[in-house]
Amino acid sequence: QTAINTGKLNSFRKLLNTSFKTCNCLCMRNSSDVNKRFVSFDEAVAQRRAEARRSFVVQVNSEASFNELYGYCSKYASINGVHHYKNSVGEHFMLVEFASEDNLKEVIRSCSVHQKDIDVMALQSPFVWFRAVNDKKGAIVPNATLSCINGTEEVDEDVLFEQLINCNSVSEQIQTLYDKTALNDLGVRLRYMVARQLETVFESMYANVAVRPFGSSVNGFGKMGCDLDLVLTNVVTDEMSDPSKRLIFQEKKCEGGRSPWQRHMELVAETLELRVPGATRVHRILHARVPIVKFAHYFTDMECDLCYNNVSGVYMSELLWMYGTLDPRVRPLTFVVRRWAQTVGLTNIHPGRWITNFPLTLMVLFFLQQKTKDGSILPSFKTLFQKAGKEDIRIAEENLNCTFLRDLNKLPAETYGQSDASLEALLLQFFEFYAQFDFEDKAISIIEGIPVRKPNNLALYIVNPLEQALNVSRNVSFEECERLKLEVRNAAWQLDAGYDREKSDDWGLVALLEKKAARSLKRLLKVGNSQRLVSVKDLFNEDEENEKNGKSKTKLT
Ligand code: GTP
Ligand code: MG
Repeated sequence: QTAINTGKLNSFRKLLNTSFKTCNCLCMRNSSDVNKRFVSFDEAVAQRRAEARRSFVVQVNSEASFNELYGYCSKYASINGVHHYKNSVGEHFMLVEFASEDNLKEVIRSCSVHQKDIDVMALQSPFVWFRAVNDKKGAIVPNATLSCINGTEEVDEDVLFEQLINCNSVSEQIQTLYDKTALNDLGVRLRYMVARQLETVFESMYANVAVRPFGSSVNGFGKMGCDLDLVLTNVVTDEMSDPSKRLIFQEKKCEGGRSPWQRHMELVAETLELRVPGATRVHRILHARVPIVKFAHYFTDMECDLCYNNVSGVYMSELLWMYGTLDPRVRPLTFVVRRWAQTVGLTNIHPGRWITNFPLTLMVLFFLQQKTKDGSILPSFKTLFQKAGKEDIRIAEENLNCTFLRDLNKLPAETYGQSDASLEALLLQFFEFYAQFDFEDKAISIIEGIPVRKPNNLALYIVNPLEQALNVSRNVSFEECERLKLEVRNAAWQLDAGYDREKSDDWGLVALLEKKAARSLKRLLKVGNSQRLVSVKDLFNEDEENEKNGKSKTKLT
């Protein structure tokens, strides 16, 4: 705590390294890894994919089914761990991780189907159901405990704000916000489970198919309940197309004029509807540049976007993940900026003329690349590109060069983490930096790490680091950009003005993040004066007004 308050970076890092519990922070600390500070994204992903390949998700009656389920499954295989969660309608599930993939296969072989039903075609998947029985005599009491820490539930807003009020500094508030809202281990496991479920279905239809999560589910900036972006790839490897092999599979050409992958994505959508338990509300958006199938996953409560072959999306996630790993302040700072943007209505769950979380994240990274008297906190993308070796060469779809250094252990220490600034100081500096930024003439480019000339007069220009000719904020209107400028100035002013904790609970992040209408309403309710109800009505009107303008609705708790 003292370390956070005083901004002493080394003690702060030590503190964080011991308290990091979220899945994405994979700084190695085994004695055998003393020289290896960072694991790579590929290693982290491989570990998650392997975990999913030896896990399944079982619907049960309640937490109390743990002993019975554990006893039953351990007759077939050895269990690594069991994680419990509830979906939004209160149904209970347990994710069981076995010791090996063969163990899971053994258990899957022992599963049955429901009683014969003429309308249902039997299928196998890693989502199963545990039949309740009356005879519980044989249930083994396991020598293990159920991992049930909050499951996948998002933290209650009132509880979160109470915790923020009780913090000792704004830096502690920022860290608390991150710790309480970041996607947890089970959230990540379940995202990889859904990817694995689809992969098993498509494996029987396409050779060498993979389904991978990307975006906020894996880039380290995901919060609990974030959407699941998935990419389906179907790569022909050198081994598969070995010219020395004389027997070659007959091909199936896609006929009928339209792009073959639009047709295949139609099949994928049909398959989701017919053969993937849990997939509901399947929506086809197939005429976009990148065809997407949207669906909801009932068992895991996830909104999913499945696209084809967008490998650059995975490399972009890798890049963001690496930046987040380099310094422990990057993710908490990005979380608070994303949350602030949501609160003031700069971002919106519907696509439109406003900024989204991805370009906002690039804005935070860009700010952290700025040189201070101590140096910068993050290196430019150019540095990562220059340090890349042969093993880092990646070419994505449409010949896109996605080459950059993957092993952060090879990055010279003086290129990052060169300031001891506290999270509080950084947040204020972030707002001040953009309050003074020359949006008219300059573009934000994490490639250079310094403002560059805008190549056109679009309102906001944020260079796509993997496709330099593209602006990731091309959709942002002049009006929305003006609002962005106004809101960063307001936030800078608000934080700079300081606070008096004795006088009000609304200090630091509480004032910055809690929606004004909700806050005033709470205050009025505390006062309990019926005459004041006129003002309460006004607050609702303010909400309606906001909604008309396309801004997010105030959540009244
Ligand atoms: P949330 O879903 O809002 O939590 O964040 P997200 O990072 O997952 O954003 P989103 O779902 O909008 O996009 C998923 C991923 O697609 C991002 O993380 C980027 O890697 C990539 N992406 C999003 N927008 C763009 C864009 O305009 N250009 C490019 N090249 N990639 C994008
Ligand atoms: Mg997303």
